[in-house]
Amino acid sequence: MKNHFSRVGFILAAAGSAVGLGNIWKFPYVTGEYGGGAFVLVYLLAILFIGLTVFLAEAVIGQNAQSDVATSFIKTSKSKNQNWKFAGFIIFSGLIVLSFYSVVLGWILNYVFTSFGTLPSDSKAAGSAFETLISKDIASQIIYHTVIAGSVIFIVLKGIKRGIEKINLILMPLLGLILLGLLFYSFTLDSFSTALNFMFYPDWSKIDSNALLAALGQAFFTLSLGVGAIMTYSASLPKNANFVKSSIIVAIVDTAIAITAGLIIFSFLFEAGAQSSAGPGLVFISLPVIFSGWGVLGQVISISFFVALVFAGITSAVSMIEPSLKFFIERFNFTRKKATILCGSIFYILGIIALLSMTIAFKDSLTFFGKNAFDWMDFMTSSVMMPLAAILTCVFLGYFVDKELLRRIFTAHVSLTVFNIWYFLIKFIVPIAIITLFLNKLGII
Ligand code: TRP
Repeated sequence: MKNHFSRVGFILAAAGSAVGLGNIWKFPYVTGEYGGGAFVLVYLLAILFIGLTVFLAEAVIGQNAQSDVATSFIKTSKSKNQNWKFAGFIIFSGLIVLSFYSVVLGWILNYVFTSFGTLPSDSKAAGSAFETLISKDIASQIIYHTVIAGSVIFIVLKGIKRGIEKINLILMPLLGLILLGLLFYSFTLDSFSTALNFMFYPDWSKIDSNALLAALGQAFFTLSLGVGAIMTYSASLPKNANFVKSSIIVAIVDTAIAITAGLIIFSFLFEAGAQSSAGPGLVFISLPVIFSGWGVLGQVISISFFVALVFAGITSAVSMIEPSLKFFIERFNFTRKKATILCGSIFYILGIIALLSMTIAFKDSLTFFGKNAFDWMDFMTSSVMMPLAAILTCVFLGYFVDKELLRRIFTAHVSLTVFNIWYFLIKFIVPIAIITLFLNKLGII
């Protein structure tokens, strides 16, 4: 079929979307902050019962309707009411996430290049190098953001099959190889067993309601839910393909990579006697110092590690823009080129605003109500728009879609019991979990 994924292409592309900074940068530091093993266990449950459930929800809507997000909601609804098009708002969070995701990927690209030179040898130097990059070095940040944004635009211009599928076909195996290499290296370190212990021996004392919500939020982010990315990719999945099996494979790959990244990073940290709870600076500050102590080998590892992050991030980034492209192409008859120029310019400019808002020079003019533009974009998407989208998707499927239709689609691939469990989760459990997360993020509970 023209411009459709092959089955393997879909799995790779959806896994490429899912596996990103969320797995290699965020998962290890959040796990570190919440003390390891117990958090990992809660996270696994969140992936299994909530993340996978919503993933299947997006996939079933997309594959059934074979359209852009707005049209898919209309087509799948019982009433076929045109007002469901407003559900299409969720695609814009993809563009906003992409704008600052591209900036962060730019920082990582900067670390790829610094790894060729001299890495900072103590955490003070590493901290100030990072600080200088984001608060003073406007020119470098703009150049790196431009390179990343340009690559994303170049890839999506070529379409689903020759652009997105192809880049995933190349980068995902390479990412896997680099991570395997790093994992083998960490096997050789004495601290590997400490890392294993840290990640799998549950210490329940650190688990409170914040940890539960962090695990839930992480499960959503890492599976790329709540912006219509999975829905849009699924719309290019052949109609008879087994979306349940593909979704399960994606969730397993995503989880396996997060765990692998965690084992690698904690082995490195413990080997150097560093803290596991360093927060977001873990990858940008703690790791370079460790690598610098390992001489040339450290440099090679550093380059591989940051290249892996760039690869993982690029395949996620292309999935954030695709929902908007499909929306303009299908609903407004834009050519792919015109849609890409429009959406590409929007996220590129938002990205520049985001990066400027953290520099000393522009901080004041780009801070509103105590939050800079970068933090606003992050907050508006991950704390407001994405949870709302997820709640909307569940309520939609649970209450506004013909249950018979869903049953027919699911039971072509799984047993009736599995369908019933999924339906119960989507109708009652998941909405309650997300509403709790949502109210908590807004500081209401
Ligand atoms: N899942 C990716 C990660 O873990 C990020 C990502 C890709 C994403 N597409 C998304 C997050 C859509 C939210 C929405 O890094």
